[in-house]
Amino acid sequence: MGVLIQHGTVVHATGAVKADVLLEGESIAAVGLGLEAAGHSVVDATGLLVMPGGIDVHTHLDMPFGGTVSADDYRTGTIAAAVGGTTTVIDFALQAKGHSMREALDIWLAKSRGKACIDYSLHMAITDLGPGDGHSGLKEMEEMVSEGISSFKLFMAYPNVLMIDDGLMFRVMQKAGALNALCCIHAENGSAIDIVVEQMVAEGKTAPHYHALSRSTKAEAEATHRSIALAEMAGATVYIVHLSNEDALRELKHAQERGLRAIAETCTQYLVLSIEEQMPGKSWEEAKYVFTPPLREKKNQEPLWGALEDGSLAVVSTDHCPFRFADQKSLGKDDFRKIPNGGPGVENRLQILWHFGVNSGRITPERFVELSCTAPARIFGMANKGEIAVGKDADVLLWDPAKDYTISAATQCMATDYSMFEGWTVKGNVKHVFSRGELVVEDGTWVGETGRGRFVKRKANAGGYA
Ligand code: URP
Ligand code: ZN
Ligand code: ZN
Ligand code: ZN
Repeated sequence: MGVLIQHGTVVHATGAVKADVLLEGESIAAVGLGLEAAGHSVVDATGLLVMPGGIDVHTHLDMPFGGTVSADDYRTGTIAAAVGGTTTVIDFALQAKGHSMREALDIWLAKSRGKACIDYSLHMAITDLGPGDGHSGLKEMEEMVSEGISSFKLFMAYPNVLMIDDGLMFRVMQKAGALNALCCIHAENGSAIDIVVEQMVAEGKTAPHYHALSRSTKAEAEATHRSIALAEMAGATVYIVHLSNEDALRELKHAQERGLRAIAETCTQYLVLSIEEQMPGKSWEEAKYVFTPPLREKKNQEPLWGALEDGSLAVVSTDHCPFRFADQKSLGKDDFRKIPNGGPGVENRLQILWHFGVNSGRITPERFVELSCTAPARIFGMANKGEIAVGKDADVLLWDPAKDYTISAATQCMATDYSMFEGWTVKGNVKHVFSRGELVVEDGTWVGETGRGRFVKRKANAGGYA
């Protein structure tokens, strides 16, 4: 007996059609009009949109940062994702300097074991290739790829913690190019930013607002340009994470016009929040919006939306990296350098993208599907995910485009004591979610079992170019 989703409108990245969808076991068994209902349990999707479950390729669950650990673990973080319509996340395993990638992988798999509630995968953040010529680290990259970790993260920011130099970045890119693996880049010039940060603190500028002012759009644009140039030399495909502003976007577009393999995402927060509105420099509350790259001036939002429309930006993710305001953000009460960087967003990604993207006419429902699930699956090598099609995993989202929903920390599943979108009312929300054929969210409420999520092994396909 399967589950027959009847009378809905199926939205693919390429078009929307009236069709029923039959889920059998963990897969989609049929898509078509008037499928036979006998022997199946029927879900009435009249008035609803039937879409592939969202894929958020940028989360940080249970991650140590700045002397604390991000507030959502794999249980709360993946439940929040599912309630927000996301059925797969790709999180980051962080290699500690002086330690192996294998150790990082083991640590992150242990964090997820028995806790992950939806399917998940990992990027490996490389900070060290080992002694000498880096032979041992490069060999480990091969092992990672053979185990389904087909993307590597490189930080050009956070000196002395995660930042790598250009030489290490170049070596990783050469190897990644040879392996068809993807290089995910946090593009900010960390060295220059650190100098500005120290100068601001010396002038007594320690409030959260100065975190944003210390990290200019030029520092992001420079690193975006440099990483793309090095990738071109190395023969690698780059994926710029959390691209936040028009200066960086210009570098991306130049590279794409030259035919380079440069892909990029932006995150929900950069599309709808701004330094003028959320971080005007008036209060400590602004620590809620301290993340990196920081919020930008409002004038950057339209170019980002335009790039989502014209295809130069390929993905919308969240960079979900939650810290509680009361006892975690407060570590930096007197010094913005000590505020843990990151914000909670995995639960709200589809609501925000739908309300401000689709309802406003900036993007079509098809483009919404492409940006939030089909492109992420293709770029990150998850062949079974990201589409409503026969044989694919039955990760299915039933979306009610007419439903009004007011976002609030009081009702969210994320473990933070605040929401970045507190009190905002959006139109369009999750109704039901199936994960590999199992109903895990019913009428907006998590009903699945803890620990049911599975690790997804990903193919190395050079971001879809191979
Ligand atoms: O502020 C952020 N984004 N924290 C998470 C780490 C990163 O840079 O993505
Ligand atoms: Zn070690
Ligand atoms: Zn980052
Ligand atoms: Zn991040």
